[in-house]
Parts: sequence; structure tokens; C-alpha cells
Amino acid sequence: MESTRLKTGITRRAFVASSAATVVASSFVPNATASTTFAERPDSRGIGPFRVIIDTDPGVDDALALLLAMRSPELKIEAITPVAGNVPLELTLPNALRLVEIAGRTEIPVAAGAKTPLMRRLVTATYAHGENGLGGAVFPEPTTRPVSTPAAELIRQIVRKYPREVTLIPIGPLTNIATALNSDPELASMVRGVVMMGGSLSGGNITPAAEFNVYVDPEAARIVFQSGIPITMVGLDVTRKTSLTDEHVRVLEAAQNQVSQAAAKIGRNAINHNRERGYLVGPNMHDSLAVASFIRPEILKLQDYYVDVETSGELTAGATLGYSPIAGDLRRRPGMETDATAMNMPIRGSAPTLGSTRTSPVLRDRFVPNAKVAVDVDSAKFFELLIGRLSEKS
Ligand code: BDR
Ligand code: CA
Repeated sequence: MESTRLKTGITRRAFVASSAATVVASSFVPNATASTTFAERPDSRGIGPFRVIIDTDPGVDDALALLLAMRSPELKIEAITPVAGNVPLELTLPNALRLVEIAGRTEIPVAAGAKTPLMRRLVTATYAHGENGLGGAVFPEPTTRPVSTPAAELIRQIVRKYPREVTLIPIGPLTNIATALNSDPELASMVRGVVMMGGSLSGGNITPAAEFNVYVDPEAARIVFQSGIPITMVGLDVTRKTSLTDEHVRVLEAAQNQVSQAAAKIGRNAINHNRERGYLVGPNMHDSLAVASFIRPEILKLQDYYVDVETSGELTAGATLGYSPIAGDLRRRPGMETDATAMNMPIRGSAPTLGSTRTSPVLRDRFVPNAKVAVDVDSAKFFELLIGRLSEKS
């Protein structure tokens, strides 16, 4: 495996090796400073289009995210890999196929992913996405077939074919991604980055602690966060600010193209579904924000965190914990963030139980960020991009 030198001076191989086993290193962050925009801004990413794989569980917001992606010339979508999540795979797979047909992008391989999380029973979100996953909006049966390669294997093959070129955009539970990483120890070092919708540093949506995608498969999420891949976490902290409105749907309805009509139908159904359940606002476009932020990094404000996932709690599995020297109660004196990695801020877990062999609550003796977490969003810019792209003439 070729080893490239990162801005920090250490090789990418060393970065991954040091991170995967124990602590996730922060080498993709020049000096572990606080609020930044993307580490890899479009101008430093070279000339697009950029190779991406979208891992998804459609899903109302997944549907609009996929349509946005398929209408975005900045993206070279190498594959779409459905996974069980919002609804079972038996529905997320045909839903993904329907969407590639609607977008006229049947050349994109769609590969069936995991039917269940790594170690848990599947919990779905039909309460939010309806029984069919598309808010009750009905579309014809797809005639396009999935490719025969399973999702995790296809992810592995594509990443190996284009080392350090492929960004993974998971917008569902992380089962497929974790399975691919587990199948090939070198794979993480070949992934350009992960831009994921998932997690939250401000409470969950399916439990008080956990965001849905991480809740469904916390073990998989933990594998991804500890993989050493540069991660951008687009979580509820920002996606809660992306509620779809009647006005957005009216604009989509007025645009006379197949994509806008489908998006409008899904959006309209989802808004009505929300109203029937007593919500005053439309559904959040969680997943579209993750895709949009890859296309337009300036939509989000990001901050460095060390993120870990609770996997053992009876009430809290799937909670994402964000450690930062400059956030929350851990805030230190001004300026410390500029030297965050050197300050030896310990990463502290729960107090050891009497029955455990562990004697210290310290899990890592040094703060080293493993993710850029979205902490603010320009919602207007986001919707301009989303609704604009979906409304454009084909
Ligand atoms: C996430 O969970 C799913 O219900 C949505 O599609 C989104 O990916 C939001 O928590
Ligand atoms: Ca989703």
C-alpha cells in the first residue's frame, strides 16, 4: 500500500495505523483548532466531480438526498448501497431503485446491503417515514435490478479501485460501511473521507440519548468513528434546523420535471403525515443536508471533536459523546484550543464498576479529535441548493 504524506508531516499509513487500534488520530486537522469549515474544501479537493458512494435507507429524507445527489454534477456516484433502517431492506432496496429510475440514472449500480444491524434486532422508523418508507407516496414497481455484488463488497471493491478518491456518504445506519471496513483491514486508509448523517451532541430523536442512524447500529457506528477515516458528522445539532415547508413543496410542484414532481409528492405526503401526528413543522431534511454539505461545504460550521459511541447502555445505546477542550463544561481557558492535542485532556468514561478489571475512568489519556462535527448551518443556503437543484429543468 502506497503511503502518502499528510499536511502534518506524518504518513497517511502511520496515521491510520496509530488510530485504528487505540485512539483515532487527528492528522487530517492541521493543528486541531476549533471552528473551521471543511478540512478538505472544494478548492483543496482538486477538480471534481468527486467519487462518492451513498449508503442509504430510503426513507423520506433519504429520497430527497438521493435525488439531490443524482442532480449534482459535482458528484460521480459510484454506487448506491441501501441498508435496513427506516424500513426493512425489502423496502429500502426497491425504493432506491425507484429513485434512480425517477432521476433517469439507472447506470448507477445499486447493491443490496445488510438486512440487520451487526449485533442487534432491527428497529425501524415507520412512525416517521410511513410503512413504505416514502411517507406513503406510491410509485411504480422498479424494473431496474440491483447488481449481484453485495453492498459491503461493492464498497470494498470501489474504494480499492480508486484509493483515496472515494468519499462515503452514509445517510442510514452504518452497517454496510462497518462490514466493508471489517472485511479489509487496509480499507480505512484508502477512503478519502466519510460525510455522514448521524449522531448528535444535543440529544437524540429516537431516545433522549440517541439519533436514529447510530441508535439502530451503534456497534457499526463505533467501528466507523474509530476507523481513522476523516469524518464529518452532520448530526441532529444542525439537521434539526432543516424542516421542509409547504412553500418548498409548492416550488417543487410548480417545476414541471419528473424529479421535482416525485420530490413534491414525497414531501407533501411527509408533511401531511407529520401534521396527522400533531407536529407543527414538516420533516427535517437530515440526509439532504449531509449531501448538500459535501457539495457546498460553506453551508456548515464545523468543530473538532473526539466522538465515541455508547454501545452498552440499557437506555443510552447509540448516544454519541463529543469531547472537546473548548465546548460545554470541558471548556478551558481561551487559547487552549490552539494547542488542544498537547494539553493532555483525558477522555473520561464512566467510573469503573467493582466487578470490572478496569481501575481508572480514563479511556484515552489525550484529546485527539476524530471528527469534524457540524455545529451550525446556513439553512437558507441549504434549501436554496436543495429546492433549486430538484426544480431545475432536466
Ligand atoms: C436519520 O434517521 C432517519 O430516520 C433519517 O432518514 C435520517 O437518516 C435522522 O435521525
Ligand atoms: Ca436515512
